[in-house]
Parts: sequence; C-alpha cells; structure tokens
Amino acid sequence: MSQNGETGQVRDQVRQAADAIRSRHTATPRLGLILGSGLGRYADTFRKKTVIPYDELPHFPRPGAPGHRGDLVLGEAEGIPAVALQGRVHRYEGYTMAQVAFPVRVLWSLGIRQLIVTNAAGGISPQFSPGDLMLITDHMNLMGGNPLVGINIDEFGPRFPDMSEAYSPAMREIVLRAAAEHGITLRQGVYAALTGPAYETPAEIRMCRILGADAVGMSTVPEVIVANHMGIAVLGISCITNMAAGMLPRKLSHADSP
Ligand code: HPA
Repeated sequence: MSQNGETGQVRDQVRQAADAIRSRHTATPRLGLILGSGLGRYADTFRKKTVIPYDELPHFPRPGAPGHRGDLVLGEAEGIPAVALQGRVHRYEGYTMAQVAFPVRVLWSLGIRQLIVTNAAGGISPQFSPGDLMLITDHMNLMGGNPLVGINIDEFGPRFPDMSEAYSPAMREIVLRAAAEHGITLRQGVYAALTGPAYETPAEIRMCRILGADAVGMSTVPEVIVANHMGIAVLGISCITNMAAGMLPRKLSHADSP
C-alpha cells in the first residue's frame, strides 16, 4: 500500500473506533486516563459508567500482559467527563509503536485534551524505594522507534512536534500541590523507556543512570509522543514497583511487574 493509503487507513480506523464508542456513550470525555499494571481498578469508581471491552471495538489492540485488563471505561471521575483505558498494550507484545499509541488517537478523537498516564517502573534513583510514586518530569525514548515514523497525518499534528514540555508543567504543579495538601510523598524524575520484555542488565541500568534517568519501564513513551503530537497535555505518574537491576543484591521476577 502507498504511504498515503496507509495514512488514510489509520485515519479511518481512528474514526471507526471513535464512532463505535460514541454509539454506546454520548457524553464527550475531556480527560483521558491510561491505567497501567495494577491500577486499572480506579476506573471502577467512575459514575454514570459505560464499560466497553476492547474486543468489541474495531482496530483496538488487545493486551496480553498479566495485570492488564482490556476495557475502555467512560463516565465521570470527580464530576469530570472522562475515559479510561483499563490496560494497555506494549511494544514487547509485538505491536508497533503506532499500534501501541492508537487508543490515544481515538481518545483525542472523542474529545480529550488532557491525559493522565500511569505505569509500573523500576527505580534507578538511589533515593527511591519500592512503593514510591514518581511524577514524571520528562522521558527518554530508548525504545529504538517512534510512533510518528511514516507519513505525517496533518489532522493529528505537525511533522515535527515540540517535546520540550512533554509532561505539562501546569498539570504537574497542580498534582504537587494536591500531594502536599494530602501529605502524600511524591518523588519526581525522568522515566527511561526500553522495549523489554527482558529486564535490563545492571550495565544497562548504570547507563540509564549516567544518562540521567530516575526510573525505567517498558511503556508510556509511545502514548505520550502521540499525545503531544495532538496537543494533549500529559501528566505521568510511575509507581516504583522494584529497584532496577543491579541497584540491590537481588534478582528481578514478574512480581516486579512491567
Ligand atoms: N524494568 C523495566 N520495567 C519495569 C521494571 C524494571 O525494573 N519494573 C517495572 N517495570
């Protein structure tokens, strides 16, 4: 297929998925959430809820990773019309970076202009401990790809999108204030994304640390690039589930949950 054909196809797929969602829930969501490993249950608290399994939506990628449900949940979060992705797909499952980020394009098409992304990550900063929450200040794309590779879809955004405020300073400010008000300790730092699925070696973690990363994971970056392309303001929070390889004298297992 020609590049123009592929562009048209992606546009059509986004429209078809968004139409399928709108046919089942008429309120326009303003806020999107991507709920990573173990955090999916937050969307269960939505009011006036519509739950749509991904396999009832055209072109939606299906999550295979443990701990990732595959439901789209629409409703009200604290009175705000919202839509949540309960579970995401990852590059390591064999999806392309663009397929991983496809649902974000659909959420934008539904109307969101703010996105909250969460993930599980390994701690690199020696100041971190498992259980910490880290507000993502910036990221490093070490996944060896970019979801915007290919002909640009001008309706979605510019060829060369700015990434200098990939994580909205205004949204970060609000969250820092809220955390302080509620006595919640919130770390801050840079998230480095690698493809996985193998955990990193201690040498790779030393490399990430020298480069300036505070946490490491296998997700989030494709979605955040696509969100920035479309002018969506992003807030990111990592849950530090383990210290990254070589930071402690122990091995990693799936219990550390990417
Ligand atoms: N490395 C990569 N991804 C992860 C980790 C890790 O140590 N922990 C949770 N997700």
